[in-house]
Amino acid sequence: MKQRPTIIVSGKNGQVGSELILLHASYSQFQWIFLDREELDLSSEASISGAFEKYQPAYFVNCAAYTAVDKAEEERGLAEKINAQAVAFIAEKCKAFGTTLIHLSTDYVFDGNGTSPYKTDEPTNPVNFYGATKRAGELCALQNNPKTVIIRTAWVYSTFGKNFVKTMLRLMSERNEISVVKDQVGSPTYARDLAFALAKIVSSEKKHFGIYHFTNEGVISWYDFAIAIKEISGSGCKVNAIPTSAFPTPAKRPQYSVLDNTNLQKDYHIQPRNWKESLQECMSYLQRL
Ligand SMILES: NC(=O)c1ccc[n+]([C@@H]2O[C@H](COP(=O)([O-])OP(=O)(O)OC[C@H]3O[C@@H](n4cnc5c(N)ncnc54)[C@H](OP(=O)(O)O)[C@@H]3O)[C@@H](O)[C@H]2O)c1
Repeated sequence: MKQRPTIIVSGKNGQVGSELILLHASYSQFQWIFLDREELDLSSEASISGAFEKYQPAYFVNCAAYTAVDKAEEERGLAEKINAQAVAFIAEKCKAFGTTLIHLSTDYVFDGNGTSPYKTDEPTNPVNFYGATKRAGELCALQNNPKTVIIRTAWVYSTFGKNFVKTMLRLMSERNEISVVKDQVGSPTYARDLAFALAKIVSSEKKHFGIYHFTNEGVISWYDFAIAIKEISGSGCKVNAIPTSAFPTPAKRPQYSVLDNTNLQKDYHIQPRNWKESLQECMSYLQRL
């Protein structure tokens, strides 16, 4: 009997990894192997090599990353190790095993001084250390393995892990009034929609390599996002708009974080949903938890 191609998914307990677990049964033409940090530790080359030797994957979907944006300013060595050095080594292994690498990256590779959606080939210029490590990871992945697809995404939320939607719901239930930044705009992205896009890429017959963008459609500020969460949840909490200067963080954030998704639509026929439709779906699941 013909063996099904194996897909390794790293970071199985993260937002995107968890969503892929939920949908993988619909893609039973593949043998999916989901690995957590204990089973595949990106800080260990031996662990990465071991996973390649054991599973001989046709695809490696890298959902693991160092994602603590503010902490990365201090834990520079670790952030660089996971987001850049480990990615370089994974891509080397992919090349040796003939594996297609699907690697996730971020809008934070851009400086946010743009005024129209960032295209995939626009110059990068990260404004924080996390963004710099993710950009380094992109370059290593592309350089070390010709069969690499980079998917940059942004403002990811889901029913899993920590994210803006869950934080807002908690704060709105604890306080009468909250303040949210209005002068940073982007496109909230439901991890479930991103996971479907990843599954579509691995299952698509014709592969296109290089850099792609995937976010939900639409452009809003964090304040607008909070207002939508308030309205959908029916919370009575007052939401105030504040400037970024009133909410200082260790890592600087880009002001304009909008990604142009058109290449993914063109090459992979993936049409992201509008952010509000996806938010409503995610919040309906959250309300049932
Ligand atoms: N979240 C966003 O807003 C956002 C925006 C743009 C781009 N992205 C990118 O999208 C991807 C997925 O993000 P996400 O939100 O799903 O991230 P997440 O929820 O923070 O999950 C990251 C996963 O990486 C794992 N991990 C961390 N260090 C590891 C190590 N040394 N070895 C193995 N696993 C390790 C974590 O394991 P533990 O569960 O054990 O901690 C966690 O499961 C990342 O590449 C991220 O950079 C995210």
